[in-house]
Amino acid sequence: MSAHATPIPMTARACGPLTGVADVPGDKSISHRALILGALSIGETRITGLLEGEDVLDTAKAMRAFGATVTRHGPGEWSVRGVGVGGFAEPDQVIDCGNSGTGVRLIMGAMATTPITATFTGDASLNKRPMGRVTNPLSLFGAQAVGRAGGRLPMTVVGAADPVPVRYVLPVPSAQVKSAVLLAGLNAPGQTVVVEPEATRDHTERMLRGFGADLTVEDTDEGRVITLTGQPELIGQTVAVPRDPSSAAFPVCAAVIVPGSDILVPGVSRNPTRDGLYVTLLEMGADISFENPREEGGEPVADLRVRHSPGLVGVETPPERAASMIDEFPILSVVAAVARGKTVMRGVKELRVKESDRIDAMARGLEACGVTVEEEEDTLIVHGMARVPGGATVESRLDHRIAMSFMVLGQVSANPVSVDDGAPIATSFPAFEPLMTALGARVERSHH
Ligand code: S3P
Repeated sequence: MSAHATPIPMTARACGPLTGVADVPGDKSISHRALILGALSIGETRITGLLEGEDVLDTAKAMRAFGATVTRHGPGEWSVRGVGVGGFAEPDQVIDCGNSGTGVRLIMGAMATTPITATFTGDASLNKRPMGRVTNPLSLFGAQAVGRAGGRLPMTVVGAADPVPVRYVLPVPSAQVKSAVLLAGLNAPGQTVVVEPEATRDHTERMLRGFGADLTVEDTDEGRVITLTGQPELIGQTVAVPRDPSSAAFPVCAAVIVPGSDILVPGVSRNPTRDGLYVTLLEMGADISFENPREEGGEPVADLRVRHSPGLVGVETPPERAASMIDEFPILSVVAAVARGKTVMRGVKELRVKESDRIDAMARGLEACGVTVEEEEDTLIVHGMARVPGGATVESRLDHRIAMSFMVLGQVSANPVSVDDGAPIATSFPAFEPLMTALGARVERSHH
């Protein structure tokens, strides 16, 4: 859906305590993978708790275009009747992945070892993002890709007719690249090996095993070595999608900084490859407890009890933690703006190729709100202050996490904070505004 034709300006104002239960949506990463693995399986996959955000709906549409039967039965309840590994049909239209880098990169991988051709496009944000990071390894399997300058979408991928297995060392810490290679490896004979020097989110590995693939993971001096045996028969599964820790981050951080707050966020994934923000918040002195730890859908989950945490202190996040909190730096920099001292975020240059250049977007937005920021290629430093002045309208740059981060900042700033366009929030967290409002926040569409 290349939506967002009509911008939705939004404003957040200082508010009283946030209280109550925040039912955040299903995990975006796992939702994409459930649909794609379901489509590559034999038989039926049943999904509960699927994120019904635009990104995932675009992936559902794409899976239909490749021949799977994808059906919605109720809120978050979906089924996929798959075509099996190597069974993708050639789509007869361009595949529009909207705003979703995960969607397009994983789907390119999933079709790259099947002898079909597909053309991919997206919205203005996605069409700026680098695809060479996936098409380079996919060419090693025998696939070909032609896109715009700099490896940008729109792009046509011709799947390999006689794919060969690949051994690939990830040059960037990216779960999307890792996943694209593993999904391509599914239809290559023999063993496909991915080496990741830095661990990234491991949902693809967990789920491939769950769907019946032979996949091993070894920790070596070179990094994590993932070995997949090609051409398995994947069998449809039941997938209970846990709630997204990256979406939970917004109400959690809001409750940490809004005086008097006390909220419960149930059923959030605590996958260690996604946990960096929570580790960091605890180091800063946040009052968060992880209650009722359990396993759901193959992932560790817990209920998060979060209280207002006066006396937060700035910290330094080390580069080796960056991958486990890569989507959370925008909201962390909002918490950093109200902590004592400075917060130094290191090893964050991947933020420059997200839905927007998130280092630049946060730096400019925070500065407009009166916060002192230092920016280097690979580092973001935010100087905390007792009260952020606010009073600015910030560009969200087609980036849901930039929009939501500033809607949290406005809840504690002296003057309201606005974003020019909150429409992208619907890509990952369609109910953000009513959920925050129900907790007591004053977040609303601006009226002119
Ligand atoms: C994701 C991987 C990360 C992350 C994105 C989701 C995934 O991207 O930022 O939101 O589901 O694999 P990179 O692989 O580009 O780091």
